Amino acid sequence: MIELDMCKCGGIRVFLTTLLLVSFTKTSLGHERNVCPTFEDYYTVKNNTNCWYDVAAEHDAQTIIKAHGYELKEFKVQTNDGYILTLFKISSPNTINYITKYYPVFLQHGLLSTSANFIALGRNSLAFMLADAGHDVWLGNYRGTQYSEGHINYTVNDKEFWDHTLDDMVKYDFPAVFHQILSETPEGGQIIYIGHSLGTTLALMYNAQYPKEAKNIFKLTILLSPAYTLSNMLSPYRNLAPFGSMFLDMANRMDMIRLMSQSEPLKQLARTICLESPRLMQRCLQMWNLFYGAETSMAPEIGPVYFNQIPGGSSFKVCNHAADLALGNFRHYNHGPLENVKRYGTPFPPIYDIQKIQTPIYIVYSIADWATTEKDAWNLYNKLPKLYRHGIRRINMKSFNHIDFVFGKNARRVVYEDLLLVIKDAILKVPNNV
Ligand SMILES: *[C@@H]1O[C@H](CO)[C@@H](O)[C@H](O)[C@H]1NC(C)=O
Ligand SMILES: *[C@@H]1O[C@H](CO)[C@@H](O)[C@H](O)[C@H]1NC(C)=O
Repeated sequence: MIELDMCKCGGIRVFLTTLLLVSFTKTSLGHERNVCPTFEDYYTVKNNTNCWYDVAAEHDAQTIIKAHGYELKEFKVQTNDGYILTLFKISSPNTINYITKYYPVFLQHGLLSTSANFIALGRNSLAFMLADAGHDVWLGNYRGTQYSEGHINYTVNDKEFWDHTLDDMVKYDFPAVFHQILSETPEGGQIIYIGHSLGTTLALMYNAQYPKEAKNIFKLTILLSPAYTLSNMLSPYRNLAPFGSMFLDMANRMDMIRLMSQSEPLKQLARTICLESPRLMQRCLQMWNLFYGAETSMAPEIGPVYFNQIPGGSSFKVCNHAADLALGNFRHYNHGPLENVKRYGTPFPPIYDIQKIQTPIYIVYSIADWATTEKDAWNLYNKLPKLYRHGIRRINMKSFNHIDFVFGKNARRVVYEDLLLVIKDAILKVPNNV
C-alpha cells in the first residue's frame, strides 16, 4: 500500500492509497452460475442453463468495476472529525472526451445501501453509462458503510464511531469529498451531483447550509427519488418514525448501537435468511418493497445482487435523523430540548432552508414510489427558488418503485438515458456559476 500525502489544504489530509489499473479480465470463466431469470430457476441454479454468473452477486464494488473493464482508482479521504472515507473513481479506458473531463459526476447512494448500487446492473448501470460518456465517475461511501469504516481514533467496535448524524456528514464528509474530486478535475471544472434517496437529502442539506460553496462546486444537482420532507410517505414503515428516539434510547442502553450498525453482521443476517431458498428470497424482497413501493421492476436475477449489497451499515442516529423527514421535518438533528439549547441555542433544531439554494436542481420521481412520493417531490420542487428549478420528471409507471432507480431491470431505458441528455444539455447551455 503506497501512501502519498497529496494535499493538506483546509485541514483535509488526503491519501491516495491505492492505484488500480486493471485490464479487462473475463471473470465469468470458471465461476458457478449464481443468478436466474425466475425464482423457480433458482432451485436448480448450479446446473440450470437458464441461469448465469453475475460478479455483483458475490463481490464488492472494486471487483465489479474491474470485472467490467473500467479503470478504478481508490482514494482515502480524511475528514476534519477523523473519519476515513473511501471514494471510488471510475473511468472508461476507451472514451476520451475533453469536455466531459471538466464535469466529473459524483454518485451518492441511499440509506443502508452502498455505492455498489450504482454498478449493480452490469453494463446498464448508471455509473458505467456515465463513464462511457466520458465522465470521471466518483462513488461516495458514507461513514459507517462497508467501504468507509475507518477513523483515526476509533474502530467500528467503539460506540463513539457511531455517534454521528446527517449534520456531521454535511459538515465534514462532503467538503472533504468534494475537495478530493476537484483536486482531480481540470481547473474550471464543476461536479455533477447525482443522489438517490438519502443521497438527495444530503445534497439539499449541503446546498442549503453552504450555498456559496455549493454554487462554485456544482454544475447541476440531480435528485432521484428526492427525500426532502416526507409527510406523504405511503410506506407502512412510516408508522415507526415517531418511535425513533425511544428505540435509540433502548438500543443505547442495551449496547446494540455498535452491533446493529455494522454492515457485515447485518448483511450476513439478511443473506442467511433471504438466500436460504428461492421462496424466502422472494418474500424478503416483498418485505423490503413494502417500504419502496409494492410494484417493482426488479427482476429475479437481481435478488442475490440485492442481498449482497443491502443492508449496508449506518448509525442509529442517522436512521433516526432520516425518520425525522417522515414526520415532516427538514432540520438539524433533534437531540431533545435540553441538548438542543446547548448546541443550537434554541429548544428546536434549526431547519435547513432550501430557499437559500443557489445551484440548479433537477428531480426525477416515480408515481409507484411509496417512500418518496409524487406529492412530496412536488412540494420540494415548488419550495426551491424559482431560478434554480432546473426541471422535474415524472416516471409514469405502475411498477417502478423507490429502489428501481438503482435495481430496476429497465432503469437504463426509464431513467438513465434521459439523465445523460439532461447532463449533456446542462453542460452545453448552463453557464458555470449562474
Ligand atoms: C445437476 O444435474 C444432474 C443431472 O441432470 C443431477 O444428477 C445433479 O444432481 C444436478 N446437480 C445439482 C447441484 O442440482
Ligand atoms: C483523536 O485523538 C487525539 C489524541 O487523544 C485527540 O487529540 C484528537 O482530538 C482526536 N481526534 C478526533 C477527531 O477524535
